[in-house]
Amino acid sequence: MRGTGYVCTSCGARAPRWQGRCGACAEWNTLEVTASAPRTRPAADATTQPLRGVDPEGAARRATGVDELDRVLGGGLVAGSTTLLFGEPGVGKSTLALTALLSVAARGEEVLLVAAEESAGQVAGRARRLGPVPEGVEVATTTSAPAAAELIARRAPTLCVVDSVSAMSDEGLASATGSVPQVRQAAERLCAVAKAAGTALVLVGHVTKDGDLAGPRALEHLVDTVVRVEGDRHGSLRVVRALKHRFGATGEVGLFEMGEAGLVEVADVAALAGPRLSVPGVARTITNDGSRAFPVDVQVLVARAPGAPRRVAYQVSAARLSLLIAVLEARCGVDLGPHDVFAAAAGGLPASEPAVDLALALALASAATGTALDPDLVALGEVGLAGELRAVEGLERRVREARRRGARVILVPGGAVAGDAGAGAVRPCRSLAEALAAAGLA
Ligand code: TYD
Ligand code: MG
Repeated sequence: MRGTGYVCTSCGARAPRWQGRCGACAEWNTLEVTASAPRTRPAADATTQPLRGVDPEGAARRATGVDELDRVLGGGLVAGSTTLLFGEPGVGKSTLALTALLSVAARGEEVLLVAAEESAGQVAGRARRLGPVPEGVEVATTTSAPAAAELIARRAPTLCVVDSVSAMSDEGLASATGSVPQVRQAAERLCAVAKAAGTALVLVGHVTKDGDLAGPRALEHLVDTVVRVEGDRHGSLRVVRALKHRFGATGEVGLFEMGEAGLVEVADVAALAGPRLSVPGVARTITNDGSRAFPVDVQVLVARAPGAPRRVAYQVSAARLSLLIAVLEARCGVDLGPHDVFAAAAGGLPASEPAVDLALALALASAATGTALDPDLVALGEVGLAGELRAVEGLERRVREARRRGARVILVPGGAVAGDAGAGAVRPCRSLAEALAAAGLA
């Protein structure tokens, strides 16, 4: 029977009666009648049990065998849980999901791919590129959420990938395919059946170039884990990151390179930075992502501006670049005024965290003065507007990594290294001006 409930076409929230404005996302005129919204029923009875007597639920994690993915997931996928895997079109979501699927199947488990956007033949072609296809991989081509749910319930595979959830629909719903309520309803149904079947479910979702589309965002609270695949489509590097994880920590990153034979795990992150160049405008720092610290070279090129000076930032923060140019001028007398400034982080990984400031500032000063820095110098620190150096998180780990990579001089924010300040290579500096002097630039 229709007319029993309403659903917001913008965020998917439900309402028992029509309202002009959605109570959840505050959009106007977005509520629509839904055929399958729940009727208001009398509240069901609830019982309690003493918490002391309840066995704790051990999250039964199964490694996918794709180490960089398992690292992000804190060991693997949890049976009965749902993971949303999202990213921009073409970034490699389908490839990563299929890689995991083949890896789990190679361990003798049954896995299921629900292909909603590609034919079985297209999936087979992609799978061949990745390597031999093991037994136990079943593929179903459907966009029907109830049909997919029925398959999961019947086969109870160890792992099921739905590619993509954005293309799934539920015939029971009045709204259009691809609309938020449709996708949400489909996801809800699939999550519930996967939970009952003990299947680890992976839902692939798209986002658009201009941000985090409503679709996947609307699913975030429904799922246990949210994993984003990031990367510049023109480069080969892909970063996989958990944004939400009910069964472990977030913030850990996995690194892959997209190549001819699919996504290959990056074992040696440091190699991405390449050899340290001894030219003016280059400074080395250690960035920290998840539990990983790795070297990154910041490069700056200063050129005479034909018109109004431009500041161009690639893989470093444009806002921090402008700030550092201003601080260098105001506090240290390094003037880049009428020049174009191009700044980049070499290696393909973004280096936009504040700890990169000092290296970026040194690279700017080095480029401005035409003086190359000591190639064995590593700079760590955030720069404040007063020209002061501020502490950075994970300093000890970064210093350890810098030493492991053979750094001879490590500039750090003054007094920040507890019990380490006396060590030979570490040189605490209180200000950017002091760091410039220590680096031989002033
Ligand atoms: P895909 O996984 O289809 O991206 P998404 O599902 O996120 O849209 O793959 C993205 C791109 O990667 C595609 O343009 C082709 C390329 N690719 C490779 O370079 N090597 C490979 O082995 C595969 C399977 C894809
Ligand atoms: Mg895809």
